Amino acid sequence: MSSVAAVLNLDVEGPRISRHLYGHFAEHLGRCIYGGFYVGEDSDIPNAGGIRLDVVEALRALNIPNLRWPGGCFADEYHWMDGIGPKERRPKMVNTHWGNVEENNHFGTHEFMALCELLGAEPYISGNVGSGTVKEMSDWVEYLTRDGDSPMVRLRKANGREEPWRVTYWGLGNEAWGCGGNMNAGQYTAEARKYGTYARDHGDNRLYRIAAGANSDDYTWTETLMKSLGTLGCAYRPQPYVQALSLHYYTIAGTWQDKGDATVFDTGDHYATMAAAARVEELITRHSTLMDCYDPGRTVGLVLDEWGTWWNVEPGTNPGFLYQQNTMRDALVASLHFDVFHRHAERLVMANIAQTVNVLQAMILTDPESGALVLTPTYHVFEMNKGHQDAASLRVDTPGGLPTRDGLATVSMSASRKDGRVLVSLSNLHADQDADVELDLRGGVLADVTARILTAGKLQEHNTPEAPEAVAPRPHTQVTATPAGLRVHLPAHSFVTVEGRLA
Ligand code: AHR
Repeated sequence: MSSVAAVLNLDVEGPRISRHLYGHFAEHLGRCIYGGFYVGEDSDIPNAGGIRLDVVEALRALNIPNLRWPGGCFADEYHWMDGIGPKERRPKMVNTHWGNVEENNHFGTHEFMALCELLGAEPYISGNVGSGTVKEMSDWVEYLTRDGDSPMVRLRKANGREEPWRVTYWGLGNEAWGCGGNMNAGQYTAEARKYGTYARDHGDNRLYRIAAGANSDDYTWTETLMKSLGTLGCAYRPQPYVQALSLHYYTIAGTWQDKGDATVFDTGDHYATMAAAARVEELITRHSTLMDCYDPGRTVGLVLDEWGTWWNVEPGTNPGFLYQQNTMRDALVASLHFDVFHRHAERLVMANIAQTVNVLQAMILTDPESGALVLTPTYHVFEMNKGHQDAASLRVDTPGGLPTRDGLATVSMSASRKDGRVLVSLSNLHADQDADVELDLRGGVLADVTARILTAGKLQEHNTPEAPEAVAPRPHTQVTATPAGLRVHLPAHSFVTVEGRLA
């Protein structure tokens, strides 16, 4: 067992943790949209206009701030006009990226906006730069957000929607260095300037345009975009056609060809996973530092709009559907990411886990036959941590250092305060060793302290329709008052949240 000394200043507020760091991503990929979010009006599964109500209810408990759609790689081959109007007349297409399956376009713009309304989430739409046109994207923005009278407004009204929607987050393509067009940084920058220009603000709807950014450590990509986005030096002034850059980083513990199994792994694989997850801090730090050189005022946001674990697909499932199980190990990947996000809340304005239902590190898995829904361990981390949304970050210092294993810190923490309440998140990444955290609370007193824990007998444990609560939060009683503050006991491979009222 290790012991960690931590100092938490309750009265020194750091940057605000945007709720958008708890964002989501839903692509037309495998069973994320079809079967996951959307089952169609004729389904036996209770639905509203085809949208699964059990999925909506479960996700509402997470306070999902935004949902990115329709991709991913799919975004750059999606033509939005195919997804409006009467469903029986919508053209079909082949989803060439994901399984070569037919896409009937039954889930389109109106269905997505209805889903966002049901979830209480803001839409984040990824426009098509790879195979689309500037006019197509410009028309989509007009269709969604313009009021009054115009060709696209008349089309929207003819399709049953009188009022414009509010849309803030707008992606200018996706992974332009890869599936989004195989461009180089210079080529894409020119495209982003052009597409960003014609993605107009209509009325008082202000778009927050997000340029397709770097793949993990491609710092040249970030630098090329930053150089082009403003005037250099003291006179730096970001141009109005791009407000943020994205970054994609997946936790892949194996190789691209053999990523490892979601549920069959050993302790060595576990630590390789934690090390891969922890790397997100280096990437965010280095991309942010580069952005600081060009934008010291931090007006351009960094958006990690794809993150999460990526394993081999579950045996017997379509390799193009990216369906994977989700264990206690995935939960720790998520909790570790959130600690990093909280520390970088000044530049990091949004993050979106890939993906919400049935794909990669999902919150929810649905059974294709019975339709049964299962909440994953990752879901529970999002739920236990939701109190950090829009809270002021609080710095946690560990003067004596953190316990390590092969250079990897095995305890991770972050904290925030909001509305007179403090939330502390603590993860013990160690596979088989407990830890005690001695929290020295300064600048305030915490009353009515409660705690919850997410852990399991084995790291490999996961939830199934037969055992839906194998990994689920429970009250945590091993939190004791000390003269300096609190002692929090962290069993091996556990995630704990401690909450209290500022007295
Ligand atoms: O999330 C799955 C895929 O991963 C996305 O479509 C793409 O952007 C990334 O490569």
